[in-house]
Amino acid sequence: MDLIAPYVPDLESIPAGLDLPAEIRRLKTERRAILLAHYYQEAEIQDLADFVGDSLQLSQQAAKADADVICFCGVHFMAETAKILSPAKTVVIPDMDAGCSLADRCPADHFAQWLKQYPDHDVVSYINCSAGVKALSTVICTSSNAVRVVESLPKERKLVFAPDRHLGKWVMKQTGRDMALFPGFCIVHEQFTAKRVAALKAQHPEAKLIAHPECDATVLQLADFVGSTAALLNFVAKDGAKAFIVATEAGILHQMRQRRPEAELIPAPADSGCNCSLCPYMKLNSIEKLYLCLRDLKPEITMDEGLRIQALKPLERMLALG
Ligand code: 13P
Ligand code: SF4
Repeated sequence: MDLIAPYVPDLESIPAGLDLPAEIRRLKTERRAILLAHYYQEAEIQDLADFVGDSLQLSQQAAKADADVICFCGVHFMAETAKILSPAKTVVIPDMDAGCSLADRCPADHFAQWLKQYPDHDVVSYINCSAGVKALSTVICTSSNAVRVVESLPKERKLVFAPDRHLGKWVMKQTGRDMALFPGFCIVHEQFTAKRVAALKAQHPEAKLIAHPECDATVLQLADFVGSTAALLNFVAKDGAKAFIVATEAGILHQMRQRRPEAELIPAPADSGCNCSLCPYMKLNSIEKLYLCLRDLKPEITMDEGLRIQALKPLERMLALG
């Protein structure tokens, strides 16, 4: 068997004193590349992006991008989704190791085994999963459209939801539908606890608590608003409150500060004692790796065409819902 050496970003090859933001802008034009960034990316990457958004918005952008190259500043499943939707384009990601605990803990072979318990069920999979898991799914959803996706399935159908049990439980509550839940979770949102969030609320009684549905139900119960990253951002932009406790990855605060510079934004603390929660996978991408990625067009996402076609069907079904 041929062993392909993994791509390692050679940070030492970057000339000292190089104006990285200027070089990244120049390379973007030269390569006809579009730079897509998730809200959890570090601020300087968000500021260089052509589009910053949540998982649904980013997949919509990837599907319609007029570019030769998609440089995806997010995690692996997001870049992989871009490749499924835009196979003719070169899709690169600054760090190939930028994974996701939800996707990584639900390998396709394990998922296929688990699904054998539910032979007559439709499978709703959160977009935070591999192409292999998408290929086993009836329809994909993101946190911003999960309720709508589940409601689009006939009431008499039995449902499985994977891989985030917290999002699944929240969707069950919103829709009144029963679903068999795969026992996955996000290591970032799992760290918020009702005890610490309640203590923070008591300290800041004027603040509204806003939370991502990847949080545990005991945290969501305390929230004034629950939504995807884009929905949380929109809530902060439009709501009259002067302070917000934000229970999601702290990268989103960058855009919130721009929309509401006068508001007090309080990141919910992780139970580890840390004052905010950062996704270690998202933060593997750096401006240096982004520069190398555009310079060398590596590391590149590649995929077996048969798998891509299987994974495309449930994604298209989601996108057709608008
Ligand atoms: P959304 O941006 O779709 O809300 O997802 C959050 C997340 O955890 C992405 O991995
Ligand atoms: Fe995955 Fe959680 Fe990181 Fe999002 S925040 S990429 S769900 S580990």
